[in-house]
Parts: sequence; structure tokens; C-alpha cells
Amino acid sequence: MSGRYTNLSMQCPQSALLHQGQGKRTTMAATTELAYFTFPNRILFGIGSRKELRNELARLGTRHPLVVTDRGVIDAGLLEMAFGRIGSLTVFDEVEPNPTEANCIAGLAVYRARGCDGVIGLGGGSSLDAAKAIRLMSTHGGSLADYDITAGGPTRITSNMPPMMAIPTTAGTGSEAGRGTLIQLPQTGRKTAILSPFLLPSVAICDPELTLGLPPLLTAGTGMDALTHAVESYLSRSLHPICDGIALEALRHIAKGLEASVRDGSDLTARWEMMLGALMAGISFHKGLGIVHALSHSLGSEGRVHHGTLNAILLPHVLRFNRPNCEAKLADLAGQMGVGRNEDAPGHLITLTELLLVRLGLPQHLSQLQGLHADQIPTYAERATKDHCMATNPRTATQEDLERILRAAW
Ligand SMILES: [Fe+2]
Repeated sequence: MSGRYTNLSMQCPQSALLHQGQGKRTTMAATTELAYFTFPNRILFGIGSRKELRNELARLGTRHPLVVTDRGVIDAGLLEMAFGRIGSLTVFDEVEPNPTEANCIAGLAVYRARGCDGVIGLGGGSSLDAAKAIRLMSTHGGSLADYDITAGGPTRITSNMPPMMAIPTTAGTGSEAGRGTLIQLPQTGRKTAILSPFLLPSVAICDPELTLGLPPLLTAGTGMDALTHAVESYLSRSLHPICDGIALEALRHIAKGLEASVRDGSDLTARWEMMLGALMAGISFHKGLGIVHALSHSLGSEGRVHHGTLNAILLPHVLRFNRPNCEAKLADLAGQMGVGRNEDAPGHLITLTELLLVRLGLPQHLSQLQGLHADQIPTYAERATKDHCMATNPRTATQEDLERILRAAW
């Protein structure tokens, strides 16, 4: 058989760059392509799963882990909740929102000074991403910019890394099942993606009880990040039908849990739905994301702007731009969101994403976010054109297109 050979490994970042054109197909047609399908890391999911934490650490052979987290997690009592007794645990709790390289270097210094032999990321996306960067730097030389995905970085990342456990305390990032980390770097001047299958956490522990205390606004913002992962990965032009199925199922869980968890943070059923949806959406975006994330990474380089909230504001505008190239897929997504599959399902889906901003109490315009400036729109757009998520968006976009989207969202 002489079919074209395609590597669809979920652990292979390059696979996300395999494009399948911009057609309106929603179901897979028979093809002569061959494909590898490999799945991500060991994941322990469920209410109370944190109680297996020490057994999982023993399984990894880690005796002196560094817990990488932030002050908010400590103040919320989640360190005690996760570990029970803290004892002689080594904790680095200085992770900043949108972590920087300097931030990770500070964590690495603690890792080395205390003779640690493994890393535990405990928190939201920033803590998990910082933990991945510290893990990488503990065995790989140079600076983080050497591992930038847009500069051939993945080829320089080897399996020589200490074990890592990821314990999310938000339902949004999906980083617990992701092969990437996003760090703000001085050399690139932007949030820079570092991707490698070796960066997948050795094990993830996803316990919905750890998200019970998350305030409504953060629940909404992180939840919309998860929703955007499911939507953008399903619309991604990469060929990965397994991830497509996972994205749709993720969206079904998110649709069940999102508003309920914002309305009542103590609703454990809603928290369960969101933690599962966010995890699955994190797996699905192994097939790549799109313009929402390209723009959000660029805008997030400005400092403390919340990633999920940026995505939430940008999503309807990007869907409107993408619509001509993905009508049928938008209808599939609308079906998962309970909008129905009638003639204008794509339009209704876009309206629903706008309505969600209001219903979840999120800002509806970029101008409402501190630290962003309208006169910088061309800079934001230009920086986004260099983002790795541009390649998998269902419709090719120029810098001018991105500027128009940003103006519409302003
Ligand atoms: Fe995201």
C-alpha cells in the first residue's frame, strides 16, 4: 500500500501542523493515509482522587518533590487539602499569573538548593506551566527561548527529565494532560510556547473537590478557557478524528457544568462536569487551536490579563470570522451546546457565546480589561501572527484580519 503516512500522535507537537484544507467536511471520509494514535499521560480522575497522591508519588519514585504553586492556592488552604499533612514538603509558592522566565529560574533555584527529585504543579494553568518549565530547566541547559516551538525547540527536548505530577485546582487549562507550557520570555517579548511529548506530566490527579472554593469570576474565566479549547480544537484544520470526538464530548460536559458551577460553586456535580470537560478539552487540543488563542497569547503578554477571560471575549468575534470555512462544524458544536441543529445553528452558537459573557458575569469588551490599549492593536495583531496557533485555524488570517477582530472585540 502506498498511502501517505501521517503521524497523528497526540504526543507529537508537529502533528498539529498537518493541515487538511479548509473544507466544510464534518465526517471523516475514507483515506489512504496511515496514522499513529497514541494517548496522553496517566490520569487519576474523580472526587477524592487526591487521596492517592502519596501512592502515585511512590509509584514515580519521587521522595523529595518540589511543589510549584502560588499564594492564592496556599491562602485557599488547597495545599493542606491536597496533601493532608504538609510535613517537610518543599514549596515554591511565588508563581505569578502569566509566569515569566525569571519566575521559573527562582523556582529552579529552590529545586536545586533543596535537592528535589521531582516536580508537582498544584494550581491553575500558571502553576502547572511553571512546574513544567522548572522540570525542563532542571536537566536542560541554555535559556527557555532555546526551546521555543517556533524556533525548532521540540527537537532539543529529551526524555531526560525528573517525574512530574499535575494537580489542577481550576477546571480550565487542560495543562494536566498537555505537552506544552507557555512562559513569558524576555528574548521573544511574548508568551512563548514550549512543546514536547516529554513535557506531559508523568501523572495527573484531577479531583473536582479541589475546585469547590474557586470564586465565580475565576470559575467563569477558566471555564470559558476550557470551552474555547474544545471549540477551537474541533475547528482546527489538523486531521485528528479521535481528538474531534474528545472535543465534542468535552463540550457536552462543559455545557452541563459551566453556568451551574458559576452560579453555585459548591455544586459538586457541576464541578465534576467541568473538571472532566476541561481535562478532555485539554487532550483534544493536541490537534491544535486557532486565532482565539493566538490573539489571547499576544494580549496576555501585556501582564496580568486573565487568559480565559480574554478567550471568552474574543471567541464570538473569531467564530464570526471563521464561519465561512466551518459552517457544518459550527453546527456540530451548536448541537453539543444544546442549541439544536436547525438551519441557523452556527449563528445561534455564536449568539450563545456572546450571551454566555453576560450570563457568567464576565466583561464583554477588551476595553474593560486593565493593561490593554487600543492604540496598540497593530502591535497585538502583529505579535499574534507569529503564534503557533495561527497555523491550525480553519481560516487563514492576515494581520489586518486580526486587527479587525480586535477592533470588533474592543
Ligand atoms: Fe487556553
